Amino acid sequence: MRILVTGAAGYIGSALVDALSPKHDVLATDQAAMAFGSSRVEATVGNIAYPQFARALVTPDIDTVFHLASLVSGGAEQNFELGNKVNLDATRDLLEACRLAGRDYVCPVRPDTRMACISLGCVTEAFSHAAGIPAEQLKASRTMLLTGISVSAQQMWDAVRARAKGRVRFDPDPGLQKIMDAAPKSTHSRRAEQLGFRHSRNIEEIVAEYESEKAEHEKNHSDTSFARHG
Ligand SMILES: NC(=O)c1ccc[n+]([C@@H]2O[C@H](COP(=O)([O-])OP(=O)(O)OC[C@H]3O[C@@H](n4cnc5c(N)ncnc54)[C@H](O)[C@@H]3O)[C@@H](O)[C@H]2O)c1
Repeated sequence: MRILVTGAAGYIGSALVDALSPKHDVLATDQAAMAFGSSRVEATVGNIAYPQFARALVTPDIDTVFHLASLVSGGAEQNFELGNKVNLDATRDLLEACRLAGRDYVCPVRPDTRMACISLGCVTEAFSHAAGIPAEQLKASRTMLLTGISVSAQQMWDAVRARAKGRVRFDPDPGLQKIMDAAPKSTHSRRAEQLGFRHSRNIEEIVAEYESEKAEHEKNHSDTSFARHG
């Protein structure tokens, strides 16, 4: 069994890690440095008030969580904002990570179902790019079809499988399958190409772009929230 202990440098947390480690693998975390004698303890230092850090602690191999990190002994009353962030928000983030860990997903179409795909980054780029194209170059038509590569539901699952916390089960819904079977499987826009619009090259690139944009967004969000909380 692999156990996560937060607040592992604290009074109770450090004793708990020592008590657990002869029998279990332990992931010990705290914002303060920790030193444990057992090779079964992995220690990771970080601030649990950062949602990205808190959520990343609950990986699919974690069986049990003992959440002891907190602002105690009047600390939360003295710094109310920080108290909320550590004692309330971080607890909620951990619970949410536990809820999502290992949850299975149902894909309502067959694995071979294909659809035209493009990354979110390409789409937002396309809006700015379109706004900068001179009217004479666009001529009369102002609509722009973008190129969407053909990706199957199975290929999408394969592209995220290694990092997924749950599994995907394919359970086609006849109504949805009919709609998806009738939709375009890919689009190729020569006009978009000529006018310099970028399109995605493969599903791996789409996933990688999404992940880096999400990480950037969460980093900015945490920074802003901490700046606001002083
Ligand atoms: N010790 C007691 O007598 C007692 C009694 C009743 C309840 N409790 C509860 O048990 C829990 C643990 O208590 P304790 O006595 O071990 O407290 P502690 O203060 O010794 O340990 C708390 C740990 O949380 C860590 N922490 C605080 N903010 C953090 C953050 N943002 N990110 C990462 N780590 C952070 C601290 O560094 C500290 O090591 C608390 O919830 C406390 O309220 C303790």
